[in-house]
Amino acid sequence: MTLSPASQTKSRMRDRFARHAATYDRHARLQRDIADKLAADLPALDAPNVLEIGCGTGFLTRHLLQRYRRGSVLITDIAPEMVAACRANFAAAGNARFAVLDGEAPPEDARFDLIVSSMVVQWFDDPARGLERLRSRLAPGGVLLFAASGPDFLVEWSNEMRALDFALDDPPTENLPGLLREERTTVDYGSARALLAELRGTGAARPLGAGKRLTPSRLRQAMEAFDKRHDGVATWHIIYGRLESAIQG
Ligand SMILES: C[S@@+](CC[C@H](N)C(=O)[O-])C[C@H]1O[C@@H](n2cnc3c(N)ncnc32)[C@H](O)[C@@H]1O
Repeated sequence: MTLSPASQTKSRMRDRFARHAATYDRHARLQRDIADKLAADLPALDAPNVLEIGCGTGFLTRHLLQRYRRGSVLITDIAPEMVAACRANFAAAGNARFAVLDGEAPPEDARFDLIVSSMVVQWFDDPARGLERLRSRLAPGGVLLFAASGPDFLVEWSNEMRALDFALDDPPTENLPGLLREERTTVDYGSARALLAELRGTGAARPLGAGKRLTPSRLRQAMEAFDKRHDGVATWHIIYGRLESAIQG
């Protein structure tokens, strides 16, 4: 079977996350903070039917299982290894169910009172369309909450890559529906080397635009330019969103 370019990008991304399930937590301190902030937006619901998209090792899952003890939480990720890691972390929770799922292809026949996703939709092939599709899986009165990297995520690093004609192959996250708020956090990595090590440790290294091959010397050039111009500091641009079911409860 031949995969389309979009499917190839997605399966490579899935495999990268799968390979890093064991090291993710060690490198993902910022993702943990973001999940905590998103959890502050969780609505009070009695015994809801909840779907989590892209659980990873479970930074947001922990909040969901504690908050909705009387509900049913379907915890999913596109990478089976992430689902396994998350399941191992929360094996004892009676309200948890686990499944491998592509969040851009949610089950047709199920409806959820709450759908949540932290730092995942930026990996969708089409984030805006994916969010609308998830919204259509809400039960009447249901809510969809998400956090994602915004268009200026690590803009200092992307600009250095772009200057060498290596555009990162980012799907668009500007103009996503339901924007609640955004934040920009500057992170002092100390160097491009440390920044890349952190991204790689979580599995979150971006592919380059189609047909581009980054040689070690070009990569070194971008790293040197980043260190010189930005002194090892880069910005995490994060957006938080909330969408409601088209049908009121
Ligand atoms: C940056 S991690 C975030 C994990 C977790 N939500 C957290 O906050 O730590 C992104 C996760 O999304 C998953 N993912 C990426 N694309 C996905 C998709 N289309 N459907 C479901 N999961 C996806 C990856 O496998 C990975 O576990």
